[in-house]
Amino acid sequence: MPTETTEPLYTRDIDLGPVTGRRIAIIGYGNHGRSHALCLRDSGVSEIRIALRVGSASRAKAEADGFQVVSVAEAAGWADAISLLAADEAHRQIWTAEILPHRKQGQALIVCHGFSVHYGLIDAPADADIILAAAKGPGGAVREEFLKGGGLIGFWAVQQDASGEARAVALAYLAAIGSGNVGIFPTSFREETVSDLFGEQVVLVGGMVALAKASFTRLTAAGVSPRMAYIDCVHELKYLADLIQQRGIAGMYAAISDTAEFGARQIEDAIAGPELLKVFDGAMEDIESGRFARKWVERYESGEGLEAERAEDRALPIEAAGAELRSRLGRATK
Ligand SMILES: NC(=O)c1ccc[n+]([C@@H]2O[C@H](COP(=O)([O-])OP(=O)(O)OC[C@H]3O[C@@H](n4cnc5c(N)ncnc54)[C@H](OP(=O)(O)O)[C@@H]3O)[C@@H](O)[C@H]2O)c1
Repeated sequence: MPTETTEPLYTRDIDLGPVTGRRIAIIGYGNHGRSHALCLRDSGVSEIRIALRVGSASRAKAEADGFQVVSVAEAAGWADAISLLAADEAHRQIWTAEILPHRKQGQALIVCHGFSVHYGLIDAPADADIILAAAKGPGGAVREEFLKGGGLIGFWAVQQDASGEARAVALAYLAAIGSGNVGIFPTSFREETVSDLFGEQVVLVGGMVALAKASFTRLTAAGVSPRMAYIDCVHELKYLADLIQQRGIAGMYAAISDTAEFGARQIEDAIAGPELLKVFDGAMEDIESGRFARKWVERYESGEGLEAERAEDRALPIEAAGAELRSRLGRATK
């Protein structure tokens, strides 16, 4: 058995038996659910069922992929391990109302994000292994990379090891969905949850969108056309993100013009000034204290979704500019 280090583990180090020999129920057939199910099956897990809510629009897709679809309650009574890949904000309701009353003794719980376990939204009994098997990235990419012989970087943690096999299940699960092709690292539920929420709030989603919106507004106020403003502040983001992913920040700077690098270096510190750091501190406090999780789950459970904010965004000039640009791209080749 390899010792725990920060060196990654690969499929060659891992026995897939702890998952191929088990009945696995996947709850939810969204981006991660579908990808995990297809990859697990291709890796030799023969007993997989998909559990969906009544009236789920995903039923047809799961059946077309050749899976048996059951209710969550049925899955809870059948499976050796439940992979809970429904939306995080729904975990408490699903767990309390549909899994716990029907759950098979000794059943393992696997999650792909630590949110519901870390914040105590799931109160698992002592006989359950509680496992984090996080393939880091969007669910669709799990399958895309797997089909290319790769995978997403995997992180595993064990919150509760009732069977003594929780670690082996975590590693086998991640290897079976392709993470063993690129590397699997240990983490903790806390680390994965805090880091994931903070990263998406302040950089990947919230930070990026805030910068895009504010810069678009400022440029158009300076008389720049919406199309040009959109190209310079939004459309080109992808090229820079790709460079950073492939070469790192220094590599990205090396790949762009010296004028762009000089300008960026002039302003980096001003952007990341005391005001921004205060925003970061607030986000971190909300995440670490559980305030953010409580607020979001309460909002979801009250039936209030995100439609109001989504409708507001759809009416923004930046969205119209993006739609206009996308509608024109590629026309020359049509
Ligand atoms: N590790 C990572 O980097 C990473 C990245 C992304 C996501 N994740 C995690 O992966 C999990 C799934 O995310 P995803 O991106 O696959 O989400 P998704 O594409 O939005 O799919 C969510 C699924 O949950 C189902 N669902 C929602 N509410 C439900 C309810 N009340 N009862 C039963 N099913 C319900 C949906 O059912 P319908 O099909 O019926 O609508 C859908 O199939 C989450 O825990 C998320 O945090 C991890």
